[in-house]
Parts: sequence; C-alpha cells; structure tokens
Amino acid sequence: MSTAVHVGNDIDPGTGAVRTPLVLANSYALPYDPSQMSWSNTEVPFYTRNSGVNQLALQRKLAAFEGAEDAVVLASGVAALHAVFFTHLKSGDHVVVSDVSYEAIFRLFADLLPRKYGIEATFADTSDPDAVRAALRPETKLVHLETPANPTTKLTDVRAIAEIAHAAGALVTVDSTFATPLLLRPLELGADLVVHSLTKYINGHGDAMGGAVLGAKELIEPIKADAMVDVGGVISPFNAWLIGRGAITLPLRMRQHCANAQAAAEFLEADPRIAYVAYPGLASHPQHELAARQMSDGYGGMMAFAVRGDPDTMNRFVGNLRLITSAVSLGHDESLIVHVSGDGPRVAAYPPEFKTWGHLRFSVGIEDAADIIADLRQALDATFG
Ligand SMILES: Cc1ncc(COP(=O)(O)O)c(C=O)c1O
Repeated sequence: MSTAVHVGNDIDPGTGAVRTPLVLANSYALPYDPSQMSWSNTEVPFYTRNSGVNQLALQRKLAAFEGAEDAVVLASGVAALHAVFFTHLKSGDHVVVSDVSYEAIFRLFADLLPRKYGIEATFADTSDPDAVRAALRPETKLVHLETPANPTTKLTDVRAIAEIAHAAGALVTVDSTFATPLLLRPLELGADLVVHSLTKYINGHGDAMGGAVLGAKELIEPIKADAMVDVGGVISPFNAWLIGRGAITLPLRMRQHCANAQAAAEFLEADPRIAYVAYPGLASHPQHELAARQMSDGYGGMMAFAVRGDPDTMNRFVGNLRLITSAVSLGHDESLIVHVSGDGPRVAAYPPEFKTWGHLRFSVGIEDAADIIADLRQALDATFG
C-alpha cells in the first residue's frame, strides 16, 4: 500500500505542492546549450512525445508495483501491446499466442501482423505446456500469454512456459491486465515483459485510457525509441495524471473486487438458473489449483457466466439488472456486464459451455457485495418469473 501511495507522487520543487501537478505543456525549457542534446532522449523532459512530468511519475509508480527495472506508458492497452510486437518482431518472425485472449490480439495475429509485416503466428493452448512446445519453430521469437485470459479466465503457468520459451530463445510477454501487479508478478515467474491496459483496474475509475509495458531496461528502451518517440503512441499527460491518481487506491480496490467477485461467483454457481460460472476462485474452475499457487491475495474481479435459456434470455436478464451496467470495458469501480454470443472465429478455442450458451463477461465492481448479489437475484427472478 505504501508503494501505491508514495511512489510517483513527490513534493513539487517549483510550488511545494504535495501532489505531483498536472503538467499539460508540450515543451519544457531547454538548457543554455541544447545543440548537443539527443532529440530521442526519453528521460529529461523537453517534448511531451518523449517524456513529461506526469508520464515519468506514472512510469516510476508502475515499475515499483511490478518490481520492474523500467516501464513505458502509452496511449492505450492496445498501443502498449502493439508497441511490444512492433519493436521486438520483424518480418519472417514467428509468434506463439494464447488461443484465448483479448479480441484485438486475435485480430493483430490472425490478420494485421501477417498481412502487413509477414509475421506468422500460431494460436496455442498455453495452459498446456506440451501444446506450446509443439507450436515452437526455429524462427519463434516471442510467446504471448494472457492470464487470466479474457474472457474465459483460462490460466497459463507463466513459470512453466517461460522455461520452455527461453530454452528455444524466445521472449515471453504477459498481458496481466486481469490480474494487476497485486495478484500476479509475471517478471518474478520468468516473463520478460508485462503489459497492462491501464484503462482497466490500474486507473480503476473508467475515465482515462492508457497502457504500459514493464521489464528490463534493454527491452523497454527500444519500445520508447521506436513505438513512442518515432511512431507516437504517447499517453496524454492528463490521462497519465488521472491514472497515477487512480493507482493510489489499487491495493484497496483489488481487495474489494476479489471479495465481491468470490461472493458473486459462489452465489451464481449455487443458482439452478445459471448454466455455468468461470471464475478462478471457484473450486470448480479447471485450473483453481494453478490459480491458488500462481496468484496471490485473490483471484481478481473478472468472471464469465451464462443464464439458461435462448440468447434473448441473456438480453432480458441484463435488461433487468438495476445496479450492474451493460457496457464494455472492465476493472472500473462500478460493476459492468456485457453479453457476447457463442459464435465466431475467436470462440473456437473456448470451452464447450461458452459455445452452447454464449457468455456474460462480468466485471465485478467495488459496490457492497450484498447489493451486487441482490441485483443478480432480482434480475434472475424478473427474467424467469
Ligand atoms: C486483457 C486486455 N488487454 C488489453 C486490452 C486493451 O486495452 P485498451 O482498451 O486500453 O486498449 C483489454 C481491453 O479490454 C483487455 O481486456
């Protein structure tokens, strides 16, 4: 908690303010002789596409959270993911990608990166180390994981996959957005780079977009140079300031997200009108044992479930919710739910129950657990009569 409160929030030397001020300036005063300065420097603020007071403060806070040597913050989670692949891959390289992942990852590797850059990908069940081993090729440069994965909450054993990938000379990247640095420490488990959508739990208030990549300086510096300075995926100072402010309460919020999600998952699982619940904190989750071993302090705020009935039953259930809002995104203070169908190419790797029933992706907020459960109960009663 002390790290969340103090790192990246210094007394401002100019004003004595006890909060890092929001600095919207595009440019900072140059030294007397700037002629020898490197215009691609990202450490001393001179132009906001390279660095600024608020970006640097947020990078320091996130690096401390994750125990990382270095961090870069960018415009969105997707900008951060793209920055990793754009910087560390080249034409002819091969990537092994988790077959369950955030939708943009599927589109990037199924279409955009092969079509535009000649980067090939194999989608593999990364929860199975043998499947990852089988997918590796001599030209495999990177193995990309997401754990727990959006939306099925499938887990990957980061340590086991890092050993396999490193033996083959490939980097391991982990999208840890669902877990946050509070619940999972991928770098300590052997990952090379961790990616977060800051838009979600780390900001936590649903009012700013951002993304971060964390890891060793030698892997982060080229991302700053290529994807931030030369391609321009920079975060706005205002968003960096908002996210830095939101991140102060991340440990408190995660405790409440985890407790509420556990209570909601147990309530839903016990109700016969529910077809299935996928939540790593349930003993029925196929990887509950891995979740207990690999994650700490809880299982997160994300789950997927379905109510029994035709697809419109799910719409009626969502329409009957009063506290929980139907909207995309996740990790906000308020509970959010989204109905997703059981069809489409991305769904191929989902468990059979997801294909049969579709799913509701449920981001459990930090309201009172009793209010969340009461809302689920009254919506089920209203839907089923
Ligand atoms: C796991 C995961 N990674 C990345 C992203 C993309 O983040 P952003 O919307 O900030 O680009 C999302 C968005 O939902 C996500 O769920």
